Amino acid sequence: MSKTILITGGAGFIGSHVVRRFVNRFPDYQIVNLDALTYAGNLENLKDIEQKDNYIFEHGDITDDSFIKNLFEKYRFDGVIHLAAESHVDRSITDPLAFAKTNILGTMILLNAAKELWKDNFDGKRFYHISTDEVYGTLGETGLFTEETSYDPNSPYSASKAASDHFVRAYGETYGLPYVISNCSNNYGPNHFPEKLIPLCINNILTKKPLPIYGDGKYTRDWLFVIDHAIAIVLIYHEGKNHETYNIGGFNEWQNIDLVKELCKQMDEKLGNEPGTSEQLITFVKDRPGHDLRYAIDATKLNKELGWYPSVTFPEGLSQTIDWYLENKEWLDHVTSGDYRNYYEQQYKV
Ligand code: NAD
Ligand code: DAU
Repeated sequence: MSKTILITGGAGFIGSHVVRRFVNRFPDYQIVNLDALTYAGNLENLKDIEQKDNYIFEHGDITDDSFIKNLFEKYRFDGVIHLAAESHVDRSITDPLAFAKTNILGTMILLNAAKELWKDNFDGKRFYHISTDEVYGTLGETGLFTEETSYDPNSPYSASKAASDHFVRAYGETYGLPYVISNCSNNYGPNHFPEKLIPLCINNILTKKPLPIYGDGKYTRDWLFVIDHAIAIVLIYHEGKNHETYNIGGFNEWQNIDLVKELCKQMDEKLGNEPGTSEQLITFVKDRPGHDLRYAIDATKLNKELGWYPSVTFPEGLSQTIDWYLENKEWLDHVTSGDYRNYYEQQYKV
């Protein structure tokens, strides 16, 4: 094997697409997927590659210092791609400490382990931290987030991600750790946990439940197909410059209400419903506290320097996503049983 790479959070939504891409495209890399298998982690996401020779799964927690030190000793990683996190804004509002622990402390424990292992020779080593556009706070009706936009996080989730980004930079400046960071906009696609807007609405249309729209529904997000994010991550891991940040986005802004109407339209066509059937489920509900009005990424740097641009248009990506959920109802049944029901009742007071 030419390299051994640790991918954290590889059983989650984005992580599973990143692990699959590395395992399939780089048979000479040993890929170690470390995941705590929280409610959001699911090994069913990786069934198709679990038998591959260059893939290993390790069950463990990034906040467990001695476990992480031993893991780094055992595999002597050349690179780390760090995705493990608590990722849902609404959960961060009810349980902020869990976000501080995993997203800040967990990242620091990984940084320390990488620094200790690599400190005598940083050549060829890389710590790649996967972050979010939410660290920049909110935009008004115009403008875009660039790599130079100041950090201004508003939710416990985004504050914890911002803090983790700062620690990554600090390890670069203080200890010379070779790092790269990317900040991406909202992802959508197969394997997305149905607590997030798009898969939650797909699941609710299938089960004929209300489609909860926070506030007036005019909040805006920039949506990117998850495989295009995974493609960007592979590219940045190999070709990004050390100590740099890259913004990744879809060039694809939607107000939530318009997005959900588009989803309803495509679902009705695919399910053979009368046009307008699913839209009747739309229900305006209490707003999210501290709700950021608008996110939109300027991904020009990534385009100009590394030649990346989204490969999938939004209508295509949304159609592929719906098809995946229609073909994987068993996956949806598994992840929406048990704890999910309690979460849903608490969050939507049903
Ligand atoms: P996810 O919630 O689907 O998956 C997170 C994964 O991390 C799960 O498999 C979970 O089991 C694992 N995990 C959580 N705590 C852990 C711990 N203490 N130790 C080990 N593993 C742990 O998240 P996602 O949406 O796939 O996001 C992945 C990363 O990308 C996160 O860092 C997130 O901040 C970032 N991000 C997400 C989006 C998005 O739209 N989903 C956009 C930009 C950036
Ligand atoms: O921007 C990147 C971020 O995108 C990632 O860092 C996060 O990990 C990811 O969860 C996502 O955060 P959002 O808060 O933007 O995603 P979510 O799907 O939760 O919400 C999208 C929008 O839809 C947001 O404006 C809130 C709204 N919403 C969400 C839910 C769950 C609703 O109106 N109703 C809902 O039930």
